[in-house]
Order: sequence, then C-alpha cells, then structure tokens
Amino acid sequence: MVLKSSFSVLVVATLAVFSSYAPQAEAHSWADCIDWKFNKGGKQDWSDKGGKCTGYARRFPVALGKAFGSHDTIWPPRHYFQDGNNPNAAPPCNTAVGARLSESRASPVSAAYGGQFGRMTVTTVGDTLCARWPAKNHAQPSHANFTVHIYLSKVQNGKDDTQMELLKNNIANLNFRNCNVGPNEDRRPCGGCFKVPARAKGTYLLQWRWAGYASCADIQIK
Ligand SMILES: *[C@@H]1O[C@H](CO)[C@@H](O)[C@H](O)[C@H]1NC(C)=O
Repeated sequence: MVLKSSFSVLVVATLAVFSSYAPQAEAHSWADCIDWKFNKGGKQDWSDKGGKCTGYARRFPVALGKAFGSHDTIWPPRHYFQDGNNPNAAPPCNTAVGARLSESRASPVSAAYGGQFGRMTVTTVGDTLCARWPAKNHAQPSHANFTVHIYLSKVQNGKDDTQMELLKNNIANLNFRNCNVGPNEDRRPCGGCFKVPARAKGTYLLQWRWAGYASCADIQIK
C-alpha cells in the first residue's frame, strides 16, 4: 500500500515536471494535413507513400515543396506556440504580422487556399477526417505524452473564435504517438482520425492543438 502510493506520487511529480518543461524547451509540431486520405484498400499509413493530403491548414506552403516534417525552418514557422503563460488570452491562430504565410484568418477565408497554398478541406457532417503531423522527436516513451486536441467552432461570425470559446468545442482527442514506425524520430509521420460533428452548412474554424502549439484551418461543411 505504502509502496504503491509513493509510486503514484513519483509518477505524478514526474509528469508535472515534464508538462511544465517540455513544451517550452523543445517540443513542437504542427498539423501537416487536415484531410489525409489513405490509398484505396491501403492500410493506415501516414507516410507520403500511404496516401495524400486533400485539405490543409491556412496558407500551407505546398508550392515550396518542402519535405514532410521540415517546415520548422521556413518563415513564419508552422509551429506557432501560443503564449505559454496565458494560452487562453493568446490568439488561437498564428498572426505573425505581415507574413504572407501566417495562419491568421483571410478575407475571404478561401484566400488562404489554392495556388501556392494547399487546398481547403471540403467535407460533410458525419464524414471522417484524418489529420497528419510530424513526431518531431516526441513520439518516444521518454517524452511526456500530450494529447492532440481538435476544436471546431460552432459559429460563422466573420472572425475567429477566442481560444476560450474553442475550448468549449472540443470534437476529438487524438493520440500524438499514433505514428509510422521509422528510423527518423524527427520526421516520423503520425496522425489520427475523427468524425465531423453536426453543423449547419458553411465554413468553420478547425484548430489542431498539441502541447500549446496550434494550427488553424477553415473547413467547408457541405
Ligand atoms: C498516450 O496518450 C494517448 C491518448 O492521447 C493514449 O491513447 C496512449 O495509450 C498513451 N501512450 C502511452 C504510451 O502512454
């Protein structure tokens, strides 16, 4: 009994240390794809060979032709970290000023898609969407196991919801470590699937959020 409870205390203390330390130190990732389609008849494979992306986050720079998992060095970086001290007051999406590649809301929202950018996700209620992200060395057992949260706005009001509002509209929780097996821990492709909940027809803000990092996409529900 005594042994068991001191063990739990140790586990809780270790987790606490990791959760306050890991995000600021080195953890980062981003939504590489919002609507990943596996090859027909293929198994769940998140690698480039296993399927293709048919819906992206805002201003995802497909024209740059960057290899999967290598978007950390472009400007602005894909890995937008919300203010760690006050995530609920920080904007839900990357608003890097003047940056044509930021994830701020475009007007119209469709201007952040197509051409040099990836296409917008077009889906229906009840459809399954699969998001993809790079492990960035954080799918190993030695790292804190943070969950990927998916939020979907409920209203279309011409501006993005605040983070507080998005937190009320959590539609899925995904296992960050659901990754392909591979030798390159940094570039291991990972992903998870979820169902599109009931919404009236229209375009909504979808946020992918993990360990304080956030990616934003607009999804059109037909
Ligand atoms: C990590 O967390 C996910 C839930 O997000 C869970 O499904 C998974 O089993 C956990 N993995 C480990 C190794 O604890």
